[in-house]
Amino acid sequence: MTTAKPLSIVVLISGGGSNLQSIIDAIHNKQLNAEIKAVISNNPQAFGLQRAQGANLETRVLDHRDYTDRAAFDAALQAVIDAYQPALIVLAGFMRIFTDNFVDHYRGKMLNIHPSLLPKYQGLHTHQRAIDASDSEHGATVHFVIPQLDGGPAILQAKVPVLPDDNADTLAKRVLTYEHKIYPQVIEWFAAGRLLMQGDNAVFDGKILQAP
Ligand code: GAR
Repeated sequence: MTTAKPLSIVVLISGGGSNLQSIIDAIHNKQLNAEIKAVISNNPQAFGLQRAQGANLETRVLDHRDYTDRAAFDAALQAVIDAYQPALIVLAGFMRIFTDNFVDHYRGKMLNIHPSLLPKYQGLHTHQRAIDASDSEHGATVHFVIPQLDGGPAILQAKVPVLPDDNADTLAKRVLTYEHKIYPQVIEWFAAGRLLMQGDNAVFDGKILQAP
């Protein structure tokens, strides 16, 4: 374990927060040298808020329905995030599309996890779409965020088999168990200075990562 200063992060959630939990656990187990400055949700009912409070983390709720439009919500969210001066913004099941201005503000400093083998199945209902397409494998991708939805450079993917009896729920659960491994790992790479975004590329240990 390094003695370097922990990476300060802000985690954005909308729902269950199981990825948030995996990050909390990785920090607790000293597999990830980071400090969660705040957990922010656009959904007041998100169960992830309870997980955050259970870990004594600061929580903030910005309900997008309280804002006139996307730009107003993003401006408010940006102000809240920037008050914490995080080195990294971690999207962990945050189900809102951002304005380009917001994304550009955090260029190279914002990660997302998406439940598909990108570039396949950008957007919603990824598990059902993989089943409908009779895919033999499915998975999740951690990537840097750029204005194009689910389009930023991929960093790490986890592949899981699609089993004959799978429905969207069973497949989602299998994918999630792998999400919980790869997301803390990628954040630790960023914390250790091994990962950055250069131009439109993700660079790991000085080498450009090729698109999957
Ligand atoms: C995860 O499967 C994550 O990949 C997905 O939402 C789920 C959140 O679960 N994210 C997206 O679909 C983003 N487009 P969690 O709240 O239990 O971490």
